[in-house]
Amino acid sequence: MTNIEMFTGKGGVGKTTSSVATALYHAKHGRTLLISTDPTGSLSNIFSCRADLEVCSVAPNLDIVELTRKMILSLWREKFAEDIYTVLSSFLPVGRDIIDYIEGAPGIDDEFMLDYLLTMADSGEYEMIVWDTAPTITTLNLLFIQQLFYSHLTQAQKIYLKVKNVFHKVDPLALINQWRILTMNIIELLQTRTSGWVVANPENLPVEQAINVANSMDDFGIKVNGFIMNKVLPEKICQGHPFLEAKFTAQQQYRQRLREGAEGRIYKEIPDLAGEMTVNGLLGKISEYLQ
Ligand SMILES: Nc1ncnc2c1ncn2[C@@H]1O[C@H](COP(=O)(O)OP(=O)(O)O)[C@@H](O)[C@H]1O
Ligand SMILES: [Mg+2]
Repeated sequence: MTNIEMFTGKGGVGKTTSSVATALYHAKHGRTLLISTDPTGSLSNIFSCRADLEVCSVAPNLDIVELTRKMILSLWREKFAEDIYTVLSSFLPVGRDIIDYIEGAPGIDDEFMLDYLLTMADSGEYEMIVWDTAPTITTLNLLFIQQLFYSHLTQAQKIYLKVKNVFHKVDPLALINQWRILTMNIIELLQTRTSGWVVANPENLPVEQAINVANSMDDFGIKVNGFIMNKVLPEKICQGHPFLEAKFTAQQQYRQRLREGAEGRIYKEIPDLAGEMTVNGLLGKISEYLQ
């Protein structure tokens, strides 16, 4: 059974850094896939490959992929477009351009990202999937869209049942039912095989957002492992530097706030580090802080 470990939090706090460090750690123990769903992803940069075009193998046990909107939509077309056309054209006078129209609908790419996650989790190829998510708000939308989609399909099924006699060639109900099951499976994947870390920095907004997102994940039924407070200034290097001392002092209340907000969950800290954030450099070091 493949488990998913996700990293979420405000933009720029260190989600990608933590995800890469964690994926490097897991890859020491088993086949690992690192997926980014951040539209401004940086995995390709970190690993010097084109993970925005296809799954790239970057180490013996580590594959990475950046799910861009373009990649997602072309996969969506391959998998669903024909079915959707079949269902719609069976009771509406529509041409094939309806597919382009639906492709542009809000939420389709989000919806399909989760389908991709499920496909990879069920492929049996990986022991662990590390999911580097888009900044907080987008990821939350993703989860709620999933729920909406599910309730919509339940409604749709009732309506289609009423007009059932207009279908002749195909059985749209069977297709709708397939999509409903898919959505249920995605929700189940998120609620039973996914756990998340919320990343923050010792500043007001990232900390408040982290606490909010952890609560939303609780509401949705995704297990929150805990918080990662990243870029904490070490006291030693601040001593004797008025600017750094002031920064260090300011950070203390936010560390305290997040530690309290953790409410029994794990709370980890990563120091603010100087140097190149490379696979053989600082990322390996960050990996040690996270274990
Ligand atoms: N502990 C750290 N010390 C120093 N720089 C860091 C640390 N963590 C992350 N960074 C740097 O901060 C920037 C943002 O981190 P990133 O992981 O890309 O954030 P996110 O994915 O949340 O947007 C990157 O340039 C990264 O190299
Ligand atoms: Mg990122």
